[in-house]
Order: sequence, then structure tokens, then C-alpha cells
Amino acid sequence: MSKFIAWIDERLPVTKFVKNHLSEYYAPKNFNFFYFFGSLALFVFILQIITGIFLTINYKPDAASAFASVEYIMRDVEWGWLIRYMHSTGASFFFIVVYLHMLRALMYGSYKKPRELLWLFGMFIFVLLMAEAFMGYLLPWGQMSYWGAQVIISLFGAIPLIGESLALWIRGDYVISDATLNRFFAFHVIALPLLLFAVIYLHIAALHTVGSNNPDGIEIKANKNKDGVPVDGIPFHPYYTVKDIFGLAVFLTIFMFVVFFLPEFGGFFLEKDNFVPADPLKTPEHIVPVWYFTPFYAILRAVPDKLGGVIAMGLAIFVLFLMPWLDRCKVKSIRYRSISYKILLAAFIISFIGLGYIGMKAPTPTLTVLGRLFTIVYFGFFVLLYFTSKNEKTKPVPDRVTMHD
Ligand code: HEM
Repeated sequence: MSKFIAWIDERLPVTKFVKNHLSEYYAPKNFNFFYFFGSLALFVFILQIITGIFLTINYKPDAASAFASVEYIMRDVEWGWLIRYMHSTGASFFFIVVYLHMLRALMYGSYKKPRELLWLFGMFIFVLLMAEAFMGYLLPWGQMSYWGAQVIISLFGAIPLIGESLALWIRGDYVISDATLNRFFAFHVIALPLLLFAVIYLHIAALHTVGSNNPDGIEIKANKNKDGVPVDGIPFHPYYTVKDIFGLAVFLTIFMFVVFFLPEFGGFFLEKDNFVPADPLKTPEHIVPVWYFTPFYAILRAVPDKLGGVIAMGLAIFVLFLMPWLDRCKVKSIRYRSISYKILLAAFIISFIGLGYIGMKAPTPTLTVLGRLFTIVYFGFFVLLYFTSKNEKTKPVPDRVTMHD
């Protein structure tokens, strides 16, 4: 066996790779609950690819047969229902995991120097993930697939001068049609997953270059022993491989419970209108995107002008890219930051959840006012952060990471 490995190593340095990235890759020893979500995001990505391949085997990207082919998968294909529910539930869980993963970065200042590029790659993943989910949602060719896509693509029409031509170019037709379905299929099953794969690779490569942050926001590389090993680090393998497997077991217990017993999740994961085939002549009463888009949808609706709404929605995503430069505080972790930062972050989280709720509901005068208020709080977070973080009164940061039993 060792001869065989030596033979491989001479041609491809596998042992060196395993050492550099697993058995001799030192991660901070104080990772908490929030550090499960990176490996879980990776797991869900792989799960979506595998279940997606099996769905593609039986799905037909054709406006005349797409809806029926999904029903065929659900009723006639062996285990087809399981594959489809794992894929549709996987989409929602992907966003749950990624939102918690991003929240962790906000809490512990993981976007700050030297991890700016790691954060930017993360944001590119987030945008690609939204495009991937949006295009996947058209494929079952249900009423909400059709009308949701119609609404979102028509937004491009609000852009001055080029808007209408751009919307036409995206659809490949004057309305959502077979041509749109074909191109969305191509993007959903190959173009975007390839791009996602590439950016996830870069995300992890950047992470392994600078090393992980941790709940104390201390750079463990600044304190090494005589062998050059960080004193607050432990080898990723076996310590975190085992810990991540535990996290995965808990995740799978919850995930499979939803797949088996609540796959529609009360209309949140699979909307009721999507069990009706797409009908270009009949608009559903309320066109509502899936829950993970609703905070941004609510921002879009909060602005009375169509172009203004589109700009606000784009800005709501774009401003997140700027986090490493908007937050000027030297201290990373929320544990040692001022009360003002804690209040700002709490207000931001409440506004994001509030917007998500409002985006799901049909507009009423009260909800519209509330939506505008939350939109102000959402953007206010970034503006106030920029001004308050420069001279923030912080607590002393310890030299070594802290452990809580
Ligand atoms: C498919 C989606 C993603 C995958 C597979 C992924 C994977 C990972 C993994 C495995 C880690 C190391 C483990 C951990 O810290 O939890 C990590 C860290 C990190 N990720 Fe992601 N990630 C994804 C999306 C994102 C997004 C959308 C963002 C933010 C915009 C982001 C920002 C970060 C940051 C800042 C870190 C370093 C955290 C720290 O060290 O405290 N990631 N990611």
C-alpha cells in the first residue's frame, strides 16, 4: 500500500495535499455552532448536483411536456418523489444554511482584513445561487413558475433605453415561452452549476490561504509555537471532520423529516399555485416569490417607482459586497464590540426578517408603510455602520481564544 501511495505521490502529491488541507491544516479550537454551516453548504451543493442529475434523466425541458414530466417523476419513476422532494427541499435548506453562514460572518467580522476576497467570493456565490434558484423554479412550468418569471424579467424592462430589448433578449420571446424554458434549463443544469463550482473552489482556496476566523475574532496565526503551529489551532482532521459529521447528522435528521413529512412546508417551499400547469391567459391572484427572495422583493415593492424599486433591490444586494470597507472597526468579533454595533446588527436582522414576511403577503396600506420603514432600517444599517465604526468604543480583545464548556 505504501509503495502504491509513493508511486501516486511521485506523479500527483496527494499526501502533501491531505497534510496541507486536512491533517496539518490548523483551525481555531473555539469554533461554535455557527461554524457548521460552511461544510453544510458544501454538502447541500453536492446533494443538489446529484439529485439534479437524476431529475434531468426524466425531466423534459419543453413547454408542452415539462409539467407532465414532473408529475411523471412524482408518480411513476421509482423513488422519483424522493429525488424531487430532496431537490426542492434542498433549495430552501441551501438558503437557510447560507443565510446563517453569512450571519456568522457579520457577527464575527469574518469579512475583515485579511478575508475581504473570501467574503467577495462568498457574495458572488450568493448572487449565482439566487440566479440558479430563480431559473430552476421555472422548470416545473407551474402557474407560479410562469408568472414569477414573467414579473421578474419584466423588471429589466424598467431600465431606461435598453430595458425592453434586454428583457426580450433574456426571454428569447415577447412573453415567457418554450424558448425561455430551454435557455433556463441550460443555465440551471450546466452553466450556473459550473460557475458555482468554480467560485466555491476559489472561496475555499482563499479560506485556506488566510485561515479561518473564529468567534473571538483573533488571528491564531499570530501566536505560533516553536514548530510553527498556532497554539490555539487544532488539526482540521480528525477534530473538525468528526465535528462536522455530527453537524451533518443533526442537519440530515431535520432535513429528511421535512422531506418525508412536510415537503411543501405549508406552501413556503413549494407554492400551492405551482401545482397548477402554467396558463399564459390566467394570472394568479397573488404572485409571490419563494420565501428566500421575499426580503429583496419587499424592498422592490417599498419604492413606488418601478425603476427606483429595481435600483433599490439591486443596491440591497450590492451594498453587502462593500461590507469589508463599510465596517471600519478594528475589532472583529461582536463579543468585544460596542453596544451600538449590537443594536445596529439586531435592527438589521429584524428588518431582514420583517421584509421577508412583508414580501410574502399581498400589499396592504399598513404593510406598505412597514415595508418602507424596514427598507430604511436595512439601508440605515450600512450607513450608520460606516460612520459609527471608525471610532467605536470596543472592549479589550484577549490574546488567546476563549473556550466555554
Ligand atoms: C455554496 C455556498 C457556500 C459554500 C459551500 C461555502 C463554504 C465555506 C466553508 C466550507 C467555509 C469554512 C467553514 C466555515 O467557516 O463555516 C466557509 C467560510 C466562510 N464563508 Fe462560505 N460558503 C458558501 C457561501 C458563502 C457566502 C454566500 C458568504 C458571504 C457572502 C460566505 C462567506 C464566508 C466567510 C466570510 C467565511 C470565513 C468565516 C470565518 O472564518 O469566520 N460563504 N465557507
